[in-house]
Parts: sequence; structure tokens; C-alpha cells
Amino acid sequence: MTRVAILISGGGSNMVQLVRAMAGDFPARPCLVASNDPAAGGLARAQDMGVPTAHLDHRPFGADRAAFEAQLQQLLLDHSPDIICLAGFMRILTPEFTALWAGRMLNIHPSLLPKYKGLHTHARALAAGDSHAGCSVHLVTGELDGGPILGQARVPVLPGDDEGRLAARVLRAEHQLYPQVLRRFVDGTAGRLDLEFGEG
Ligand code: GRF
Repeated sequence: MTRVAILISGGGSNMVQLVRAMAGDFPARPCLVASNDPAAGGLARAQDMGVPTAHLDHRPFGADRAAFEAQLQQLLLDHSPDIICLAGFMRILTPEFTALWAGRMLNIHPSLLPKYKGLHTHARALAAGDSHAGCSVHLVTGELDGGPILGQARVPVLPGDDEGRLAARVLRAEHQLYPQVLRRFVDGTAGRLDLEFGEG
């Protein structure tokens, strides 16, 4: 059975969907939920679901990303994951670290990549007058939000949308997309997954 570690920084709603999906005939199980923020709400949610949790506060490391990542790597190895899922993990990882997990680390990003890498994706989509927004699951490489895309979900931008309304619609799509892409990834299913959602 494939073992999946999930890295979070916040509420962990994507993490919850991944953990819920990894049951029954799903070919993977969660082995760890870890956060760089000890106060991340997702940690308690993972514990409630019976998943081992850990936190590694990045702040004492200051600008020393390599030292933080060395400890993060040790924490991960202690739980023997086959795959890492970044799910709202808000630390930029160095190319040296991402190389350790090349082809085995996934991320979800709240835009239709390659559009809007980085932060404030919904505000940027609204400012551009885009008719659609969405989210992408991609392999993590040394380039921020730049790795091969495994799946995308599109949602409409609706009249009257503000950042919050659009973010909520995209987040609902994220919750559908990420578990399905993870399943296909573990199964070795070729080709990317494209989902389209309506106004709901
Ligand atoms: C999601 O929109 C994710 O794509 C982004 O941060 C948000 C995290 O939400 N990078 P959650 O912690 O999974 O609820």
C-alpha cells in the first residue's frame, strides 16, 4: 500500500479530503500530516481522523532554509512515505529539497497554471477579467508552481464575484480534484485529468 505524507500550513481542508479519500479500495493511505506552523488547525483535524501528526516550526531557523529542510527531510523519512502531497503548505522549498522527492511530490495550486504562479491568484484572475478560474495539481520541481500538470479543474468567474466568493468556489473544486489526481497518480494512470464545474 502506497504511503502518503501530507504537508500543510493552515486549516487543511484539502488534507481532510485526501485523508477521507484514502480508505477502502483507494491504493494509498496517509502516514503523516505535518505542518510548519504548530498552530495549524489541520493538525487537530488529522488527529481526529487517526493520522499521525507532527509539526516543525520554520521560524527558529530564520533564513536558514537548508537547516529547516534537513529536519523536515528527517521527519518525513521517519514515516517512510512513498509520496508527499503539499496541501496549502506555505513554505517555498529549495531545488535541493524538491530534488530529493522528484517525481514523488505533488502540490495543489489555486489557479489554472501556468497562469498566476505564486500568491493572490484569485485577485489576479478577477483583475484580468478572466471568464474562468480554477486549480491545478502538479508535480513539484525546483521551479515554483512550475512542474508538470497532472490535473486541473475549471470553475466559472461569476458576476459579482469578489476574492472570497471566487476562492470558495475554487476551493470546492480543489477538494474534488486533488483526491482524484492522487488516485490516478498512484495507479499510474496516464494523461492529465481535466474537470469542469458549474456555478455551484
Ligand atoms: C488552498 O487554496 C490551496 O490551494 C492554497 O491554500 C489553500 C489551502 O487551503 N495553496 P486548505 O488549508 O487546504 O484548507
